[in-house]
Amino acid sequence: MAKEKAIKELEDLPGIGPTTAEKLKQLGFDSVEKIATASPHELAELSGMKLEAAKQAVDAAKQATTLEYATGTTVYEKRKSLGRIETGSKGLDEMLGGGVEANAITEAYGKFASGKTQLGFQLSVNVQRPIESGGLGGKVLFIDTEGTFRPDRIEQIAKAAGMEIKDTLDNILVVRATSTDQQILAVERADKLIKESNVKLVIVDSLMALFRSEFLGRGALGERQQKLNSHIHKLQKLADTYDLAVYITNQVMDNPAILFGDPTTPVGGNIVAHAATTRLYLRKSKEDKRIVRLVDSPNMPEGESVIKITPDGIKD
Ligand code: GTP
Ligand code: MG
Repeated sequence: MAKEKAIKELEDLPGIGPTTAEKLKQLGFDSVEKIATASPHELAELSGMKLEAAKQAVDAAKQATTLEYATGTTVYEKRKSLGRIETGSKGLDEMLGGGVEANAITEAYGKFASGKTQLGFQLSVNVQRPIESGGLGGKVLFIDTEGTFRPDRIEQIAKAAGMEIKDTLDNILVVRATSTDQQILAVERADKLIKESNVKLVIVDSLMALFRSEFLGRGALGERQQKLNSHIHKLQKLADTYDLAVYITNQVMDNPAILFGDPTTPVGGNIVAHAATTRLYLRKSKEDKRIVRLVDSPNMPEGESVIKITPDGIKD
């Protein structure tokens, strides 16, 4: 009796020949595990496979994937050794427990000119520094949905940090997305780039702008939230798989249900609220000062910290 072949490669899955396997790898589905966690619809749509074949492949991949259980101690060790990106402000770093965390999504929300993009620029420079100097020694994938990426500002910040300007700019891979489809694809196709280029920070600035303008009215809300949910879960998966930090910016609205106190609320609803590991609320203070409030964090107390947006970048 023929022994069943162990499933190790994509080609070992039913319905996947060498050509489809190659195509899937190009799309970022480069392991049996990735197929196991993909949705058959997504797989069929992206690869051109028949839905039925995609379902069979996903099922077989699920059966072939074994779950590993980690003890609390291992998880604790991993958490302690988690990388962090310093923000340029000691006070803000302290409030965050050392900086912006890898393996997690950090969200900054606030009104216009509150400093969300500027913090993203600073992180884009700082992440390139070695671990012992407050970075993660890696590159940046910057998904720009608002057309506000400014290389000249990166140049200023890099120069002030004593870093090689051309290298710093070359290490930031910018994707300009003008539709939610492009924004979603930029994340879906990111695996290869992240691995090859050692990306340690993925930025989406801003997460919601295109979603808000494309899905108007109550009727579109369900579809919007579905797409958004899948998008943000893929971001989380990148953070987990590649030990990188995800930084997203978000817009705000006034919540009419809040009668007393500050009605400023981030958009995107529960889906964004649940997905963001750490939430920061930025607001303008006098001149170049900004108040950063830690609203939600898994292990740090709520608090506030004042930063400054200086010509040299973010400072205390
Ligand atoms: P929206 O994207 O409009 O929602 O705002 P944002 O929160 O992203 O604001 P952003 O980070 O772009 O902050 C804008 C503010 O940063 C400006 O009002 C300036 O105060 C400051 N800023 C922007 N560029 C520079 C610069 O080159 N030098 C200095 N010193 N400050 C800058
Ligand atoms: Mg901005």
